Amino acid sequence: MIKIQNVHKSFGPLKVLKGIDLTVEKGEVVTVIGGSGSGKSTLLTCINGLEPIDTGRILVDGTEVHARTTDLNRLRQNIGIVFQQWNAFPHLTVLENVTLAPRKVLGIGKAEAEAIAEKQLRHVGLGEKLSTFPSRLSGGQQQRMAIARALAMSPDYMLFDEVTSALDPQLVGEVLETLKMLAEEGMTMICVTHEMAFARDVSDRVAYFHKGIMAEIGAPEQIFGDPQHPETRAFLASVR
Ligand SMILES: Nc1ncnc2c1ncn2[C@@H]1O[C@H](COP(=O)(O)OP(=O)(O)O)[C@@H](O)[C@H]1O
Ligand SMILES: [Mg+2]
Repeated sequence: MIKIQNVHKSFGPLKVLKGIDLTVEKGEVVTVIGGSGSGKSTLLTCINGLEPIDTGRILVDGTEVHARTTDLNRLRQNIGIVFQQWNAFPHLTVLENVTLAPRKVLGIGKAEAEAIAEKQLRHVGLGEKLSTFPSRLSGGQQQRMAIARALAMSPDYMLFDEVTSALDPQLVGEVLETLKMLAEEGMTMICVTHEMAFARDVSDRVAYFHKGIMAEIGAPEQIFGDPQHPETRAFLASVR
């Protein structure tokens, strides 16, 4: 489970996270919504230790992410993260791109790593694209390749940061379907998203971020049907 306890984080004088508390249970899907600059991406990068925090604690399966003794490389193997865009190696095929991390980071042999990569690529619907080069993929296919790449490390947790934001509208659906499939398989996920229908459909809980504070968290029916905070109401009205 991921336990976030009273986390504060600043960039210089700018306070970006102002006391975030959130526990994500195994198998749970939490989506994070909120305006630009509210701290959503920063929270994800703190969870997998890409960014330090000022005060508070983040525990992943009981391991304190920001403790000096924590092996961050090992921790990150267990927490896949997918961003808006991932620049694949253009001179490597789709299969080779996905094979890279299991080989280099986990030290798995070529044949076994290829088997893992192929399995994950098939899983996200790219079984026909193994020997294609990334530039030949659509944006939606590239994002699914990025998801397969993260899954190839066999993580227990997946963090998604607006993975459909850079896509043409007609390509959004196939990527959201992939996330939905992972959710239904029981993956523990935190998804930052602007896709409200997706958040409503797939989440166990929806968290609304406002200026570095988690203003509200609840079941999707509650957040979308009966938001308690004026900011949540205003935000939802602005994105509808
Ligand atoms: N590396 C950084 N250095 C300085 N400021 C940053 C950095 N990353 C993010 N910020 C600032 O922190 C605030 C929160 O950013 P972010 O977490 O990306 O918000 P969101 O993902 O909700 O749009 C913004 O004001 C942003 O400009
Ligand atoms: Mg962001």
